[in-house]
Amino acid sequence: MGGPVIAFSGKGGAGKTTLAAMVLRRLVGSGVKPVLAVDADPNSTLGLTLGVEVSETVADLRDRMGEAAQKISEIPKQRMMDQWLGEILDEQVGFDLLTMGRPEGPKCYCYVNALLRRYLRELRGSYAAVVVDCEAGMEYLSRLTVDDVDTLVLVAEATPIGLRSAERIAKLADALPVRLKQRVLALNKVVSSGPPPNVRQAAREMSITAMVDVPFDDDLQGRCLRGVGIDADAGRAARGPIEELTRLCTGPTNEQIQQANLKESIS
Ligand SMILES: Nc1ncnc2c1ncn2[C@@H]1O[C@H](COP(=O)(O)OP(=O)(O)OP(=O)(O)O)[C@@H](O)[C@H]1O
Ligand SMILES: [Mg+2]
Repeated sequence: MGGPVIAFSGKGGAGKTTLAAMVLRRLVGSGVKPVLAVDADPNSTLGLTLGVEVSETVADLRDRMGEAAQKISEIPKQRMMDQWLGEILDEQVGFDLLTMGRPEGPKCYCYVNALLRRYLRELRGSYAAVVVDCEAGMEYLSRLTVDDVDTLVLVAEATPIGLRSAERIAKLADALPVRLKQRVLALNKVVSSGPPPNVRQAAREMSITAMVDVPFDDDLQGRCLRGVGIDADAGRAARGPIEELTRLCTGPTNEQIQQANLKESIS
């Protein structure tokens, strides 16, 4: 079965990677471990944001695989890929990081993605949670290498433009072959006076399970400017809302609550 899969999506620069890193640290800090962190953005930054040196990416394996694939049959190919994927997992305290990287040239990435999807399905069972940092925009959603997402965190700056983007991604998510159990809106970089009323109103009208305001946090921005990774002490101002977001992502989903209520009302 494995723990919950939590994917972070949203417009470019909204704070997906920062919030994914903060939630990952919170999960590990509260004893939910080991966590599998997947950097699914071809422009990989989750490693840097966490202060982790990334050795090799899945994209690097593709070429290796291409050469070997001509010589061997299907089953050893899968076994070999599993072994390689195991080798490129960056093992950290409380979590492992898997970086997808950027496929180069016109060659098709589908084959490696199919192997990776199967591998992640199997691997998932050994982790207490999976955190996926996605690429900006919407296209990636159809290429997701996990087919079962428990929580899609829509990260949006608390502006009308930020909200509009989040709405578009939420609509696209409806049409996905991926099973999404719940969506949580994280309004990010919120100023001390709170989100503008029109933004709050638009957020309330979105089809989401819950909403969290994450304040603008000088420490988070300062770390990014200085190139210092997000560790367990990062982002004190954002800590409370990150705890709330983590709780929402690991607690029972609405669907589960409804099922539990139904059982109760029958018995
Ligand atoms: N709550 C916050 N307070 C202050 N700064 C923040 C906060 N969240 C994110 N940032 C800053 O916003 C910038 C963009 O953040 P981040 O890289 O996480 O966004 P992203 O959505 O992952 O971007 P991309 O689309 O490029 O992957 C960084 O400088 C980061 O430090
Ligand atoms: Mg990012």
